Amino acid sequence: MYKAVIRGVGSYLPETRLTNVEIEQMVATSDEWIQTRTGIAERRIARPDEATSDFAYLAAQAALADAKLHPTDIDLLIVATETPDYLLPPVACQVQARLGCRNIGAFDLHATCAGFLSALQVAEQFVKSGVHEHVLIVGADTLSRFTDYTDRGTCILFADGAGAFVVSRSDDRAARGVIATTIHSDGTYFHNLYIPGGGSRTPYGDGAKAKIVMDGRKIFKLAVNVMSSTVEELLQKTGRQRDEIDWLIPHQANQRIIDAVAESLDFPQEKVVSTIQNIGNNSSATIPIAVDTAIRDGRIQRGDLLMLVAFGGGLVWGGAMVEY
Ligand code: UT7
Repeated sequence: MYKAVIRGVGSYLPETRLTNVEIEQMVATSDEWIQTRTGIAERRIARPDEATSDFAYLAAQAALADAKLHPTDIDLLIVATETPDYLLPPVACQVQARLGCRNIGAFDLHATCAGFLSALQVAEQFVKSGVHEHVLIVGADTLSRFTDYTDRGTCILFADGAGAFVVSRSDDRAARGVIATTIHSDGTYFHNLYIPGGGSRTPYGDGAKAKIVMDGRKIFKLAVNVMSSTVEELLQKTGRQRDEIDWLIPHQANQRIIDAVAESLDFPQEKVVSTIQNIGNNSSATIPIAVDTAIRDGRIQRGDLLMLVAFGGGLVWGGAMVEY
């Protein structure tokens, strides 16, 4: 067995900003309400000519540059997304072609906001077992295309963007890298966060809304419970102590959810990475973007112990303990 190390990290945010003041023109809300209840001041969203593969490609390029690898070095490419450019083909194939990778395996992984951590677990298995040397994983979403801008309960949250890791093999079992991963699901909660139209049950054009529908209050409670229990599970699994964690990096869904998770774990707020204020919730992209942001601003250093944790519609949830 080999060690899976995070060799490169990158991200990309669309340039267009959607501010709370602009949202005030769309629904009955206020900047003050949104900031107090979500911590969000503005979000990044796609231009009309941009889609998920554009963000995924740019984030992948940044992670490859950080890893000092060429696209032809990559052995497998996974894009975690719930908002592909097309239902067919996978975004991963578009990214494979644009990067100029070899004819490697490339597939999308759909596990909503826990998609990136699910992709990390898949990459870890391929690398640890020796099947692949370098796996490129991307979390990319364009939620703005599936957001109902007449629904004040959802349009305040959602955003677009992408982040990526290059996960590489190390022969040194003691090397820094992925220490443990876990993923879970409970499909009985599916109707609390879903898109009713546009799939095989009610295709486009058949009247169903292809926009996100959410029971925010219910999802909020579930999110705090499952993210807290995932952190506890990973600590127990690895025998590590809470105070050994340098950075807690939760899915960026709502600042109050992030705060409640830290509080329930009795974890110091100053060691929690939050990027939601000026980015919003861009689903499978939030965790790699938060990691990349905290690396670039000097908070995360090589060797730091990271606790990554996410949840999303499904319900799905998961986490990873990683020595960066
Ligand atoms: O990636 C994961 C996906 N989603 C999530 O993690 C979302 C989890 N949930 C949330 O973030 C929060 O539940 C929301 C931000 C969506 C809503 O915040 P809340 O504090 O849970 O509000 P609430 O739904 O309990 O509603 C409280 C009140 C209601 O009015 P009444 O019934 O008390 O008169 C809502 O109608 O706030 C009202 N409200 C708003 N008021 C102004 C709901 N949305 C808004 C709004 N502006 N945008």
